[in-house]
Amino acid sequence: MTNIDFEKIVDTSNEWITSRTGIKERHIANADMTTADMAVQAAMRAMEMARCEKEEIDLVICGTVTPDYRLPSNACLIQERLGLTNAVAFDVVAACTGFIKGLVIANSHIETGLHKKALIIGVEKLSAVTNYKDRTTCVLFGDGAGAVVVEPSTNGCGMISSFMKSDGRLWQLLWMKVGGVKNPYTTDFDYNGSDKIYMNGADVFKVAVKEMANAVEVVLEKAGVASSDIALFVPHQANLRIIDALAKRLKIEPERVFKNIERYGNTSAASVPIALDEANREGKIKPGDYVVVVAFGGGLIWGAALIKW
Ligand code: UT7
Repeated sequence: MTNIDFEKIVDTSNEWITSRTGIKERHIANADMTTADMAVQAAMRAMEMARCEKEEIDLVICGTVTPDYRLPSNACLIQERLGLTNAVAFDVVAACTGFIKGLVIANSHIETGLHKKALIIGVEKLSAVTNYKDRTTCVLFGDGAGAVVVEPSTNGCGMISSFMKSDGRLWQLLWMKVGGVKNPYTTDFDYNGSDKIYMNGADVFKVAVKEMANAVEVVLEKAGVASSDIALFVPHQANLRIIDALAKRLKIEPERVFKNIERYGNTSAASVPIALDEANREGKIKPGDYVVVVAFGGGLIWGAALIKW
């Protein structure tokens, strides 16, 4: 769906969307395609790339705020569809930070020897919870999925350090009012968008830049690695201006920052794994490189990880 398509449905312009967000188009899943459908495709490709047999996977973590059902977890649906019978599967609800949080959990399970091979997926069908009458949010979001397989390393590669934090006092800056136990759906109510995503974009923007910069500084400091040592910086793709401001604060020049927001918009938990996969397939990451991933989202919650590839 392009910016021009949006000009036909809300009072906006290609110029406004491009200059304020960097987004030119985003992918919208077909009505009959679910979050699990997208996740299964991404997971299959990750397992294929990792040359991994389904019997080997013993942990499945899915980061999403748009699961197929309230119960069970999306991860269990993915487990069933892929026949991952030796695994334990569960979801992580950490909005745009869901994938990184999943990665951090998997890393600690692997470090402690609890699990040996984990599949982590970030997936969203945000089009299902987007208010297409609200120009301040609808132009931002897209659908997508990304996945990785992780296992113990013997050569010092892997997750070197991580940092996660949230500030629950700010939960109403980005939320969905209706659909949970507090405000359940009823048949005789005009929701007027209250069952879709609400975001106070300007306030979220300010916290995002400050806290993502701090999270990256913490992971680098923990590991004793300088920002000049990072080969590739893979931030959550929410807004090009946020990415640029973040890179400037961290003194990371544009060549070392991966961006694909132009083509996908904000895909929440899917944004980092999609970016990571594209960067990898484009040959932008080599064995031994330091890669930093960082994300920020509704909660508010944010986190970063330093990975030696
Ligand atoms: O992924 C999870 C975390 N999310 C984020 O990190 C998103 C953070 N926030 C943002 O990316 C930006 O705040 C937005 C892209 C959401 C908005 O950009 P902004 O530069 O902060 O704009 P604004 O909200 O301050 O609005 C500026 C003006 C307003 O008009 P007035 O009040 O100045 O007359 C808006 O009504 O732009 C107007 N506006 C639009 N105009 C045309 C808002 N949305 C649109 C639109 N088209 N789609």
